[in-house]
Amino acid sequence: MLILETDVRKVTDDVMNMLHEDERELINAFYDAVVAKDIDKIDTLFKVVLVEVEAHFKSEEDMMEQGGYAGLAVHKSDHDAMRAKLEKFHKRWEVLKGPKEVRSFLEKDFKKWMISHVATRDKDASQHLGS
Ligand SMILES: [Fe+2]
Ligand SMILES: [Fe+2]
Repeated sequence: MLILETDVRKVTDDVMNMLHEDERELINAFYDAVVAKDIDKIDTLFKVVLVEVEAHFKSEEDMMEQGGYAGLAVHKSDHDAMRAKLEKFHKRWEVLKGPKEVRSFLEKDFKKWMISHVATRDKDASQHLGS
């Protein structure tokens, strides 16, 4: 397990909490495959991760846009930075099939990013959306 339930701060918006919990579970399953160096499973789950993360980010961006949230651009740029990293590591995975690199990205970068993004950007946005 990479990310514990208690690592991810609860925000005031229940839709966001649901998106975060689904993503946490998926990332943990992906991480287990990476640790086990299960190439086929990593191949499959990496694609699912890309789709799910995009759905998570896009849902939040739509909610923020509909709610007229002033911090949308800053929030979106933080999403875009992670979108770019995931794309980059997925492209490298497709060529190199190196679980070590993916593991290090998840442990040293993605985990910290998710915990900190939820506790700052998502927390702020959810307070303004007021649902
Ligand atoms: Fe989020
Ligand atoms: Fe977000």
